[in-house]
Amino acid sequence: MKHTITAACAALLLGSMTTLANAETQVDDKSLADEKQSENWLGYGRTQSQQRYSPLEQINAGNVAKLGVDWSLELPNDRSLTGTPLIVDGVMYFNGSFNVVRAVDLRTHKVLWEYNPKSVDHAGDRATIMWDWNRGIAFWKGRVYLATVDGRLIAVDAKTGKEVWSVATIDPKNALFISGAPAVFRDKVIIGNGGTEWGPARGYVTAYDTATGKQMWRFYTVPGNPADGFEDETQAMAAKTWTGEWWKHGGGGTSWHGLTYDPEFNRIYIGTGNGSPWNQKMRSTGGGDNLFLCSIVALDANTGKYVWHYQTTPGETWDYNSNMDIVLADLTLAGKPVKALMHAPKNGFFYVIDRATGKLISAEKFAHADWAEKIDMATGRPVERKGARYEDGEELVWPGPFGSHNWPAMSYHPGTGLVYIPVIEMAGMFSDKYTKPKAWQSPSFKFDPGVDFLREDGPADWGTSFLRAWDPVTQKLRWEAPLPGVWNAGTLTTKGNLVIQGRADGVLAAYAADTGKVLWQKPLGLGISAPPVTYTVDGKQYLAQLVGWGGSMTATGGSIAAQHGWAYGAQPRRLVVFALDGQVVLPPLPAPAFAKPLNAPEFTVYPELAERGSHVWSQSCGMCHGPAGTAGGYAPDLRASTVLLDEKALHSVIFDGALRERGMPKFKSINKDDLEAVRHYIRREARKQNLAP
Ligand code: HEC
Repeated sequence: MKHTITAACAALLLGSMTTLANAETQVDDKSLADEKQSENWLGYGRTQSQQRYSPLEQINAGNVAKLGVDWSLELPNDRSLTGTPLIVDGVMYFNGSFNVVRAVDLRTHKVLWEYNPKSVDHAGDRATIMWDWNRGIAFWKGRVYLATVDGRLIAVDAKTGKEVWSVATIDPKNALFISGAPAVFRDKVIIGNGGTEWGPARGYVTAYDTATGKQMWRFYTVPGNPADGFEDETQAMAAKTWTGEWWKHGGGGTSWHGLTYDPEFNRIYIGTGNGSPWNQKMRSTGGGDNLFLCSIVALDANTGKYVWHYQTTPGETWDYNSNMDIVLADLTLAGKPVKALMHAPKNGFFYVIDRATGKLISAEKFAHADWAEKIDMATGRPVERKGARYEDGEELVWPGPFGSHNWPAMSYHPGTGLVYIPVIEMAGMFSDKYTKPKAWQSPSFKFDPGVDFLREDGPADWGTSFLRAWDPVTQKLRWEAPLPGVWNAGTLTTKGNLVIQGRADGVLAAYAADTGKVLWQKPLGLGISAPPVTYTVDGKQYLAQLVGWGGSMTATGGSIAAQHGWAYGAQPRRLVVFALDGQVVLPPLPAPAFAKPLNAPEFTVYPELAERGSHVWSQSCGMCHGPAGTAGGYAPDLRASTVLLDEKALHSVIFDGALRERGMPKFKSINKDDLEAVRHYIRREARKQNLAP
């Protein structure tokens, strides 16, 4: 019997072979645009529309309470995990810290391969300005595409994990880096970059041939020095909206996130960034709209030529970039079908745009924003309030530089017609009293946005946050759920009437998509910063969540981030996969851990040195170790570090690069006196904490 293959058995074998053959998904324009395919998660926003809506409904509002852990994978070498995993035919591809990409078999839960682009080694001096996280990778015709923090774009064979090609997308002398996912379309892969805060930056996106890595086109988001001649008429047009000698400061407009391909119009929409520097008084001294800062720019996907633009924040001066996700949907507006584009940038307004023409359809506030009263629908321009531009040198403005919505993704449910937005309610104090606009010079490879930042910490309750269900047709709030802290992750929505979101307090939560009712909550023991994804293997639905506190708030948020107790290195990082009736018990979750600043009474603080140290700190240390030394979890809290009390150990860390491999850069840009000043500053700040009740 053993060796006899019966007819039924042969049919079964053949059947399963055909399923296997069919299961080989070609990831291309067709599959990436197919909203109905449900077993995979092929692109950053699942499909090209970026809706993050899954048609799966095995897990649904009726049974989500039975969701449990099915398996998990420990990730001991990772720290920040902010990426969207991709699922192709039973294999998950995701990127961890410093761009290490892994392929995991979803049946055996084994790591099939790991590709390490050695980003720290490639970074050189750029290490002083870069963080470890990245928001995602792309998949196209059997290859994984990743962009490294040091500026390379790399193609890797999805079967073997072997590098196929690698190109440099950033000039080594520019203080730029990459934290975003590339986008793929029509055999092209496109990537931008970020980093307007560390020196003169002129934003651009570049499209490469997926097969070879050959550059196909590049689009600059702001014009260069007119004396060098403009690249084309679009740049000449943009230059008319600038004043002063903006090119000396680069201008900004970097596209660090928000690349959406539109298969219906064969266009790529790029969300552009803030000014370099933020403060317009220094950047473009006579004012002006400063195109294409804080805009959505539609480009022809074949040529990279300009088609239309809409600027959300003309003459930006608050870091209100428009890099947030750009979501495409067919909406019915005033009885007419509209090919719409939806966008909720930092500035607090929710925009619905007709993507055929770029015409603004509606714009309303989805959060508290007082920099502008409203958007004038006749002109499409904001009606700003007096004082908002900190004309007199200092002003409290809503929202602050973190925005009303940051990169954590929103999702759109075609059934409920609602958009689920992770919303931040937080003001910012904009001050250029000490930065002195007239005398200001753009530093290089040092943090300086042209307003005071990172020298002082704010209170932990400086901001609040909500999950808001927004109706894009009526431009009204449908429901909201309060969230902990301010730094919550992106959302997923499913046909099973669910919205799923990870939170700053480490809880993964499911809500009814129509009513906002909380249906399920699971504490995962560490702040969640990555959006969840869902998929099927052998017909069964799973939900996957990367758990690893990350993103700019975890580095620069101070007490707002530190309040959750996700101190550097205190909690494990992992991938957790859920299924209905999942029974696995996770290892015990370590308790929240908080830094204990050292008083060090033997250290005499010299006030002038401490003051000087605050400026060194804001330019060179605060971007990772937090404002006034209050670390949000991205790096150790130096108020509590004994290394700071030991001059020899400190010099070996700072000047010899003793911890370079672990993301603590070696510094050539500061000297021993600067470092001594930092020690006095940190001791001053540590003692303030000791006095607190
Ligand atoms: C780009 C991010 C980044 C910047 C900028 C940065 N650090 Fe760090 N630093 C780190 C990370 C990450 C670690 C933890 C490394 C490890 O795991 O050992 C660290 C560790 C340290 C430590 C060791 C602390 C301990 O107790 O082990 C000291 C001291 C330190 N940094 C000082 C500084 C100073 C001073 C500056 C500014 C001149 C600075 N760092 C700038 C990321 C950064």
